[in-house]
Amino acid sequence: MVSASIKTLDKNGNDIATVGFNRFGFDSEVPLDVLRSLYLRPHYAVPADSDDGDKSLDMDEQEAQHAKFTQGHTAYQSKSIYYPDTKSISYTTLSRFTPVKLLPPSQRKRILVTGGAGFVGSHLVDRLMLLGHEVTVLDNFFTGSKTTVSHWVGHPNFELVRHDVVEPFMIECDQIYHLACPASPPHYQFNAVKTIKTSFMGTLNMLGLAKRTKARFLISSTSEVYGDPEVHPQHEEYWGHVNPIGPRACYDEGKRVAETLTYGFQRQDGVDVRVARIFNTYGPRMNPYDGRVVSNFIVQALKGEDMTVYGDGKQTRSFQYIHDLIDGLILLMNSDESRPVNIGNGDEFSIGEFAELVREIVEKVQDEDGVKRTRRVQIVYKPMPTDDPQMRRPDTTRAKESLGWQPKWTVRMGLEEMVRYYKAKMAEGSL
Ligand SMILES: NC(=O)c1ccc[n+]([C@@H]2O[C@H](COP(=O)([O-])OP(=O)(O)OC[C@H]3O[C@@H](n4cnc5c(N)ncnc54)[C@H](O)[C@@H]3O)[C@@H](O)[C@H]2O)c1
Repeated sequence: MVSASIKTLDKNGNDIATVGFNRFGFDSEVPLDVLRSLYLRPHYAVPADSDDGDKSLDMDEQEAQHAKFTQGHTAYQSKSIYYPDTKSISYTTLSRFTPVKLLPPSQRKRILVTGGAGFVGSHLVDRLMLLGHEVTVLDNFFTGSKTTVSHWVGHPNFELVRHDVVEPFMIECDQIYHLACPASPPHYQFNAVKTIKTSFMGTLNMLGLAKRTKARFLISSTSEVYGDPEVHPQHEEYWGHVNPIGPRACYDEGKRVAETLTYGFQRQDGVDVRVARIFNTYGPRMNPYDGRVVSNFIVQALKGEDMTVYGDGKQTRSFQYIHDLIDGLILLMNSDESRPVNIGNGDEFSIGEFAELVREIVEKVQDEDGVKRTRRVQIVYKPMPTDDPQMRRPDTTRAKESLGWQPKWTVRMGLEEMVRYYKAKMAEGSL
């Protein structure tokens, strides 16, 4: 089976072969293919052939498909067998881990990632592990899952701890990425009191740890601190316009108070802090059912269901791809910038245009994989729900000036990866 590599181009039409930078004395660059081999795993589950057919062909096909996106980094994969008849899955252990950089002790950092089993956290963990650092993940698995980091479990540089950040935790470390907090509205509204507790007490505990260990502390804040903004695009000096008692307040106000705490520890105790205000991000490992537009559209199109657009489709949104965000977080952590920094992509799409783009990419990926469609999915328009948030768009001047960071990935390239990821999840039977 021929395995042609897939070309990934950045905004200027140049090949993306690596992600990350060597800047501020910290090298965060890794080959894209190696990183991809950790999340694009079409063979992640090999369907068991219940009627005793020719299994080897299936396996060869799976391997070839995988090699197409990951340049053959299959030696480091566990193979999980999916049994369609009983809807069960059997996991195998890894025989070998993906190679990681061997750093001298003077360069190797002990890094704590809270919420490291979530969507953003697991991508950060992949990058930090490949770079050769010692990574500890702290997670209560509320919205995250062990499967997102299972490919590192057992590695000597990796530790996974089930822990709720609302309770104190002690460990020696050099850097803390504090990400633990549910991020999508259905998840953070599920238990609003717990969400605000996580934001306040979790951040208090992690800042206490940073104070004790003299670790540098980075918090993943959000564009939601700007609320329903009266200023467009939003720059970091804007104080926001937030309803303190609405259904989103547990998250918005939670992050605002978390920022207040962060700067309190900086002023009073000299804790070395970083604050990333993250805008809408998408990518593989995003929960397909958390009600966000990117995952909704892809799942509907892949399942052959009509795609639902709420409103007339003219409202705009902007999205950044996960690798751009991880680049930004690592740069910020290692830079001298202690003011809040917006990290997001300002390219706007109307929702109608976006639905068409998703449909086109799903069809392209299906054609590449020889999938036959019985009909073309339609884009249907439904009335807009009343609480649909207003548009937010980042002003990323500060990130550009202080970190030399700007988004590289086009929405099209990011969507292609995400479609392949969800397609693999469908083959596995978990979508
Ligand atoms: N994804 C985005 O577009 C986006 C945008 C802005 C900000 N953020 C921020 O980035 C961070 C990560 O978001 P995500 O999209 O990966 O969400 P996610 O829900 O996938 O990840 C959050 C992780 O935190 C864990 N967690 C939640 N409460 C916890 C607790 N009390 N103790 C320990 N672990 C806990 C969850 O189990 C999960 O693994 C969050 O702080 C979020 O506010 C994300």
